Amino acid sequence: MARRALVTGITGQDGSYLAEFLLRRGYEVHGIIRRASTFNTHRIDHLYVDSHIRGTKLFLHYGELLDGARLATLLSTVRPDEVYHLAAQSHVRVSFDEPEYTGETTGLGTIRLLEAIRQIGLDCRFYQASSSEMFGSSPPPQNEGTPFRPRSPYGTAKLYAYWTVRNYREAYGIFAVNGILFNHESPRRGETFVTRKISRGVARIRAGLDRHLFMGNIDAIRDWGYAPEYVDGMWRMMQAETPDDYVLATGVGYSVREFLALAFEHAGLDWTKYVRFDERYLRPTEVDCVIGDAEKARVLLGWVAEVHAPQLVKIMVDADIRAVESTHTPRIDRPAISGWDPTPR
Ligand code: NAP
Ligand code: GDD
Repeated sequence: MARRALVTGITGQDGSYLAEFLLRRGYEVHGIIRRASTFNTHRIDHLYVDSHIRGTKLFLHYGELLDGARLATLLSTVRPDEVYHLAAQSHVRVSFDEPEYTGETTGLGTIRLLEAIRQIGLDCRFYQASSSEMFGSSPPPQNEGTPFRPRSPYGTAKLYAYWTVRNYREAYGIFAVNGILFNHESPRRGETFVTRKISRGVARIRAGLDRHLFMGNIDAIRDWGYAPEYVDGMWRMMQAETPDDYVLATGVGYSVREFLALAFEHAGLDWTKYVRFDERYLRPTEVDCVIGDAEKARVLLGWVAEVHAPQLVKIMVDADIRAVESTHTPRIDRPAISGWDPTPR
């Protein structure tokens, strides 16, 4: 019998790579998607086969982290062996604008799932997408023993979820793990996170579609890895003999400024000519520097990050250049992109 996984956040960056990974390993994959007025499944469309066709291994269900009854229904009907809980309001800057919603989804969403698992008496494993943002102002290198000092509503919500996982593990014996993942990126990264904003901006400037790229704090330091490798790490945590918490990271930090320089240089451009400051992208409190120590994952899971920032930059810039070249966007004034973090003209 194929193992069955339930993935929340399957339409996101990590969810799409994880779905690919699990399908390759023969899993039956069930994903929870949100009802929206427009299609929101573009990251997994290539995986989806009409459910009327025999042998389909990917099934999508409507659901929402705010709706505990629906989550319980899905858990009891799908009866997964493994639950990968990736859904969240995942943007740190946005969490300052929508702190209550972020707490409701990113924090309480986890307890809704775990409590449903407990009430149903479901025998399954549970993965929680914890974050290096929980370390906040604790100095690097950060590992599983580093004190948490979150600096954003997103970080505090993730910390609530982190402790909920540990509590359900200890109190009820549920196999629940925290993957404390440092930033991981890819061509599928949301366009308003800094690496994708840069790679997309470089491609558009190179094509003559934009003149400038407006940025916030470019002194911040992040440990950027490659998302497909991190979903492998998630799966390894779920196959371990005992449930535990693990950091996944490359162990090397780069500033946003360095990422900018590498990205523009890859396209043959000098970043200082195009990058401008816009205070809109600053945060009320910033996480200045996160650099992870993933030694525990290396020793116990055999997991090591192979792709580091310089290679990642090339992967992302090349992908965005290809995307821009294939869309034939006319070189005329276009409406600003809607939503948070538009690139101002
Ligand atoms: P992402 O691209 O922003 O995807 C988030 C997913 O959550 C999307 O599928 C989104 O659905 C879904 N979602 C958001 N709010 C929801 C709600 N109220 N109900 C149901 N689904 C909801 O995030 P990601 O980069 O893949 O990250 C995956 C998880 O890992 C997140 O929990 C994130 O906080 C955490 N994390 C990420 C990183 C990183 O560097 N990427 C590092 C550490 C931890 P829509 O597509 O409909 O918006
Ligand atoms: N988004 C954005 N836009 N960030 C900017 C900009 C800008 O124009 N200019 C500078 N930055 C800085 C931010 O202030 C931050 O210090 C850094 O770039 C990275 O920002 P993001 O890419 O938005 O990522 P993040 O580190 O805040 O959060 C991501 O990583 C976390 C892991 O620690 C998200 O994926 C979280 O969901 C994840 O948990």
